[in-house]
Formats: sequence, structure tokens, C-alpha cells
Amino acid sequence: MLRVICFILLAIAAVVVIRVPFAAAEDACIDCHKSLREERLNRPAFKIKNDYHLARGLGCHSCHGGDQTALDNKAQAHSPAKGFLGKPKRHAIPEACGRCHSDPSYMRQFNPSIRTDQVKEYYTSVHGKRLRDGDQKVAVCISCHDVHAIRAVKDQMAWTYPTNVAETCGGCHGNAEYMKPYKIPTDQLEKYKQSVHYETLTKRADLASPTCSSCHGSHGAAPPGVDSVANVCSHCHVATAELFAKSPHSSAFADLGMPACVTCHSNHDIAPPSEAMLGGGEGTPCATCHEASSAPLKKAAELRTMIEGLAGRIDQATATLTRAEHAGMEIGAPKFELIAANESLIKARAAVHSLDVEQIKTATDSGLDVAQKSLESGQGLLSEVQFRRKGLAASMLIIIAVLVGLFLKIREVDRRKRLD
Ligand code: HEC
Ligand code: HEC
Ligand code: HEC
Ligand code: HEC
Ligand code: HEC
Ligand code: HEC
Ligand code: HEC
Ligand code: HEC
Ligand code: HEC
Repeated sequence: MLRVICFILLAIAAVVVIRVPFAAAEDACIDCHKSLREERLNRPAFKIKNDYHLARGLGCHSCHGGDQTALDNKAQAHSPAKGFLGKPKRHAIPEACGRCHSDPSYMRQFNPSIRTDQVKEYYTSVHGKRLRDGDQKVAVCISCHDVHAIRAVKDQMAWTYPTNVAETCGGCHGNAEYMKPYKIPTDQLEKYKQSVHYETLTKRADLASPTCSSCHGSHGAAPPGVDSVANVCSHCHVATAELFAKSPHSSAFADLGMPACVTCHSNHDIAPPSEAMLGGGEGTPCATCHEASSAPLKKAAELRTMIEGLAGRIDQATATLTRAEHAGMEIGAPKFELIAANESLIKARAAVHSLDVEQIKTATDSGLDVAQKSLESGQGLLSEVQFRRKGLAASMLIIIAVLVGLFLKIREVDRRKRLD
């Protein structure tokens, strides 16, 4: 037993002895830079603990070159003979990162599925093209990824994590002062924060909902597989886009040079859609192209009436069932049936994009049937509640009458006894 304990203690001691020199021979760059006064020089050494590169064994020298073993020896550590590169100039940063990130055989040693086209893609974007022309204000790799604390994209603290991207882009694009030299709006962040997409992404934590880079791409001019940002909506809203593509609007919009979805929904501040959009009045998307009393808007009014009719019936059925439930009735079955009516409503709202009255009518008619049945079940349950209440009241009355009768009888008996 003692021998085993001794052996374990010896083993631990051996590990400590072997480890200590390594631990002491930390990275010379980090060691010395932590001790430097100037914030510009010491900040990287403190920040680096959050950097994914360090976590993968890549220290300061992997980006800046130099000799990381030259303890307390700046001349040797910074020696050009050891490949010291210094601080990369802003216009050279994409290539500095690309030295590794554009090299598939190097990168695949770390991660077999990582993409290696970021630099190539970057130079197709407005950012990359302008950087090439000498513009220093556009985003380079470190504007979106930070520097010295570059985190993996799936890290929730990363500047590139879906819920943080809007602030990352908005840091420049929402800063009117910074963007002054350019003749483009600076309201994208502010508007995006009012959109259904932002609401869905942040409040409902649905990462399928787009942020800036989902529509604009992160590195290239557009996300992969999208020919133009103006057509990006169809990438996710596939079914809606198919309905639109088959509608008379599809070619009409193309002839007018108007983009498909954003003409009616806008791009950054997309509001929750409703039947009100079919109004045709001032401020509705239809008024841009159609006169108030034109045939298309008469058709729009017809569509609106059908959809509102179904939505109204569903609301009525829901309210009735809720009342029945509060009165203690079992509403499981009719509530379940109402799901089908809601599905028809969703179908009808999507079918608006087809402009096909028949298709919408088919959806609303079948939904109305179901909603009507649910409504009637609810009404049936409510009248049963009434009936039970009436029955209860009647039996209460009988009981009270019997009690009163008994009371009177007892008094009568008492009085007789006293008279006797
Ligand atoms: C013994 C201290 C010491 C060591 C070791 C050291 N540095 Fe430095 N480093 C400095 C000082 C001091 C400066 C300020 C500029 C100067 O004096 O060259 C500096 C500046 C830099 C700069 C900024 C250069 C610029 O142009 O602004 C970079 C980048 C840098 N060091 C990277 C490294 C890397 C990478 C290593 C390890 C391979 C390293 N340093 C090791 C002390 C050190
Ligand atoms: C992933 C690559 C990468 C790694 C790893 C890295 N750096 Fe840097 N470093 C850069 C880039 C890019 C810049 C230029 C930043 C800029 O233009 O603002 C830079 C700038 C600097 C500067 C100049 C800061 C300034 O504001 O002028 C210093 C000093 C520096 N790095 C030191 C270090 C030290 C020390 C480490 C290790 C603790 C390190 N770097 C690790 C990429 C890297
Ligand atoms: C305008 C902001 C922006 C710029 C500039 C940018 N990135 Fe990215 N990058 C992102 C975002 C956002 C992601 C998250 C995933 C995605 O959307 O592709 C990302 C993902 C990555 C990834 C993870 C792998 C991948 O491709 O998904 C790497 C590696 C990367 N970027 C490297 C770079 C390099 C190198 C540069 C400079 C050439 C650069 N990035 C420039 C925003 C940017
Ligand atoms: C010395 C080679 C090298 C250099 C230079 C380099 N990187 Fe990396 N980078 C890597 C490796 C290796 C990984 C880890 C890949 C992995 O495991 O997924 C990585 C990971 C990343 C990731 C996380 C990717 C993910 O899967 O989430 C980002 C973002 C990134 N680097 C950006 C940059 C930026 C920006 C620069 C330039 C400032 C840069 N890198 C410079 C080698 C390098
Ligand atoms: C470092 C500041 C900075 C950051 C961060 C930044 N951008 Fe930019 N961006 C610019 C500048 C400057 C331009 C050039 C404006 C121009 O030429 O019209 C530009 C141009 C653009 C353009 C082209 C605008 C046009 O039509 O001319 C788009 C789209 C864009 N950025 C999207 C993004 C997205 C998306 C992000 C975040 C993933 C982002 N940017 C992050 C500074 C930045
Ligand atoms: C749902 C998709 C979507 C999202 C999310 C989105 N955009 Fe856009 N954005 C567009 C479309 C579409 C255009 C118009 C492009 C065109 O006409 O080619 C546009 C235009 C732009 C422009 C050009 C100037 C302008 O305002 O017309 C910039 C810059 C821009 N967006 C930045 C951003 C930023 C920053 C964010 C995040 C805060 C963002 N966008 C979020 C789709 C989107
Ligand atoms: C990256 C995928 C993606 C892109 C790109 C995208 N969306 Fe969305 N969109 C979603 C998700 C996810 C939701 C929320 C779930 C839902 O209600 O369908 C949503 C919701 C909506 C809604 C509200 C639906 C409702 O019933 O409340 C509208 C309208 C909308 N998007 C229009 C657009 C338009 C217009 C564009 C192009 C400018 C666009 N979307 C681009 C994924 C996307
Ligand atoms: C960008 C301009 C534009 C906008 C915005 C627009 N329309 Fe149209 N619409 C047209 C054109 C052009 C036609 C004629 C197409 C044809 O029949 O060749 C048309 C045709 C129609 C038709 C007749 C389709 C048929 O059966 O022949 C209806 C209905 C219609 N639009 C409804 C609407 C409604 C509802 C809105 C608002 C939600 C709207 N439109 C918004 C341009 C527009
Ligand atoms: C002519 C104007 C117009 C165009 C073009 C248009 N929409 Fe719509 N969209 C509407 C109206 C009106 C509604 C509301 C229907 C309702 O609630 O009754 C709506 C509702 C929606 C909804 C919520 C209902 C559903 O379908 O799930 C989404 C998502 C949507 N649109 C996406 C898109 C996309 C993606 C495109 C491009 C392919 C597009 N829209 C093109 C007018 C338009």
C-alpha cells in the first residue's frame, strides 16, 4: 500500500518537475508585452486569453512572426531574421490573415471542413474593392472579428455571432459622422431593430431569422447561392417566392425594374404583415402602382374580405371556446380542430402572393367550414353550461322550498305543543 502511495507521489512530482520549466518558458512575446507600460503594447497580451488562435496553439508569433522563445530579449524576439513582421498595415491585413486562411492544406490540419475562400470573397465585396482603391475606412477582417480576441464564430461572445452581428456592422453603418464621406443612408441598424426579423432573432431566439450578414453576406458581395441582395428573401421564404413567381406581378415587377419582395415589404424595417396591407389606400404598398378605384384594387378588397372573414370566424370560435373552458367544460377536441382552420388562414395569407382569387377562396372556404364547426361546438358547450346552471338553480329552489316547508311545519308542531 505504502509503495503504491509513494509511486503516485513520485509520479505527481515528476509531472510537476517536467511541467514547471515549460510553464515558466511561457511565450516571450506575451511575457514581455504584459509588462510594457504603453496600453497599445500591453493590451494584446492581456486580450489574447480569449483568442481562438491561442486556444489552437497559435501565439503572437504565428501572425507577427519573430522568436517567441527569446525571453527578455527584444532584439532577438523582433529579429527580421526570425521572420518578425511588426504590425501589419491596414491594407495588408486581409493577406496577413489569408497567409493561413487561404491555404487549404494548412487549415485542414486543424479543421477539415473550414472554408478557405474568405479573402477571395472579401475582394468581391464593396469593402474589399474600396480597400484595394486605398479607402482605409471600410471593414477589414479585424473590423468584424476583433483583433487579439478573435473568437470562434459559434462562440456567443464573438462579434460575428448572429445576435451580435447587427451591432458589429452598425458600429460603422449606424455612425453618421463616420459614414459622412459616403452618400448612403445610415439608418439600417435603427430600422432593422424595428423589424420582425430582429424580433424573431432576439426575443424568440430563432437563429434562422436573418441579421445583416445573412442578407448581405459576410465576406462576399452576397450570401452564397444568391445572385443579388435584392433577391435574397426567396432564399429562405421559398414557398412564398414560388407563389409570387407564378403571379402576374412577377413579370410586371421585372418589366418595371422593381425588386420582388422589398417593393411591398421594405428591406430593413419589415413589419408584421396583415390584411391592412391590402387596403389600397395611402401608405399601403399597392398605392405605389395602382389607382384607388382600379380593377386590381377591387380584387384586393375582395381578397381582404375573404381573409378577414376567416380570421374573424377563428377569433370568434377561439373566444367562445375560451369562455366554455373557463366555465369548466372540456374543450380539447374542438380546440384541436381549430388548428386546421389556422393552417388554412396561413395558406390564404401566403396565397395573396399568387393574386389568384380561386386559390385563396379554396383556402378560406375550407378554413371557414372548420372554424364554423368549432364555433358551434363552443356554443353547444356554452348552452350546456346554461342548462346545467338552470338545472342547478331549479334544484336549489326545490331544496329551499322543502326547507322552508319543513321549518314552517316544525313551527306549527311547536305551536300546537305549546297550545296543548
Ligand atoms: C523583451 C520585451 C519584448 C519581447 C520579448 C517582445 N516584444 Fe514586441 N515590443 C516590445 C516593445 C518595447 C515594443 C515597442 C516598439 C519597439 O520598441 O520596437 C514592441 C512592439 C511590438 C509590436 C508593434 C510594432 C509596431 O510597429 O507598432 C509588435 C507587433 C510586437 N512587438 C510583437 C511581438 C511579438 C510577436 C513578440 C514575440 C515573438 C514580441 N513582440 C516580443 C517588447 C518586446
Ligand atoms: C490572429 C493574428 C494575430 C495574433 C495571434 C496577434 N496579433 Fe497582434 N496584431 C494583429 C493585427 C492584424 C494587428 C493590427 C491591428 C490594427 O491595425 O489595429 C496587430 C497589432 C498588434 C500591435 C500593435 C497595436 C497597435 O495598436 O498599434 C501589437 C503591439 C501587437 N499586435 C502585439 C501582439 C502580441 C503581443 C500578441 C500575442 C499576445 C499578438 N499581437 C497576437 C494580428 C495578430
Ligand atoms: C463585414 C464583416 C466581416 C469581414 C470584413 C470579415 N468577416 Fe469573417 N466572418 C464574418 C461573419 C459574420 C462570419 C460568421 C459566419 C458567416 O456569416 O459566414 C465570419 C466567418 C469567418 C470565418 C469562419 C469560417 C467561415 O468562413 O464561416 C473565418 C475563418 C473568417 N470569417 C475569416 C475572415 C478573414 C480572414 C477575413 C478578412 C479577409 C474576414 N473574415 C473578414 C464577418 C466578416
Ligand atoms: C498562423 C495561421 C493563421 C493566421 C495568420 C490567422 N489565422 Fe485565423 N485561424 C487559424 C487556425 C488554424 C484556426 C482554427 C481553425 C479551426 O480549428 O476551426 C483559425 C481560426 C480562426 C477563426 C475562427 C473560425 C471558426 O471556425 O470559428 C477566425 C474568425 C479567424 N481565425 C480569423 C482570423 C483573422 C481575422 C486573422 C487575421 C487577423 C487570422 N485569423 C489569422 C490560423 C490562422
Ligand atoms: C469599419 C467600418 C465598417 C464595418 C464594421 C462594416 N462596414 Fe460596410 N461599409 C463601410 C464603408 C466605409 C463602406 C463604403 C460605403 C460606400 O462606398 O458606399 C461600406 C460599404 C458597405 C456596403 C455597400 C453599400 C453600398 O451600397 O454602397 C454594404 C452592403 C455593407 N457595407 C454592409 C456591411 C455589413 C453587412 C457589415 C457587417 C457584417 C458591415 N458592412 C460592416 C464600413 C464598414
Ligand atoms: C432581410 C434582409 C436584410 C437585412 C437583415 C439587412 N439588409 Fe441591408 N439591404 C437589404 C436589401 C435588399 C438592400 C437593398 C440592396 C439593393 O437594392 O441592391 C439593402 C441595402 C443596404 C445598404 C445600402 C444602403 C441602403 O441603405 O440602401 C447597406 C449599407 C445595408 N443594407 C446595410 C445593412 C446593415 C448594416 C444591416 C444590419 C443592421 C442590414 N443591412 C440588414 C437587405 C437586408
Ligand atoms: C436567412 C433567412 C431569411 C431571409 C434571408 C429573409 N427572411 Fe424573412 N423571415 C425569416 C424567418 C425565420 C422569419 C420568422 C418566422 C416566420 O414567421 O416565418 C421571417 C419572417 C418574415 C416576415 C413575417 C412573417 C409573419 O408571418 O409574421 C416577413 C414579412 C418576411 N420575413 C419578409 C422577408 C423579406 C421581404 C425578406 C428579404 C428582404 C426576408 N424576409 C428575408 C427568415 C428569412
Ligand atoms: C411595382 C408596382 C406594383 C405594385 C406595388 C403592386 N402592383 Fe399589382 N400590378 C402591377 C402591374 C404592372 C399589374 C399588371 C400585370 C398584368 O396583368 O400584366 C398588376 C396587376 C395586379 C392585379 C391583377 C392581376 C390579374 O389577375 O390580372 C392585382 C389583383 C393586383 N395587381 C393587386 C395588387 C395588390 C393587392 C397590391 C398591393 C398589395 C399590388 N398589386 C401592388 C403592379 C404593381
Ligand atoms: C404586391 C405586394 C407584395 C409583394 C411583392 C410581396 N408581398 Fe409578401 N405580403 C403582402 C401582403 C399584402 C401580405 C399580407 C397578407 C395578409 O396578411 O393577408 C404579405 C405577407 C407576407 C408574409 C406573411 C404571410 C406568409 O406568406 O407567410 C411573408 C412571409 C411574405 N409576405 C414574404 C414575401 C416574400 C418573401 C416576397 C417576395 C417573394 C413577398 N412577400 C412579396 C404583399 C406583398
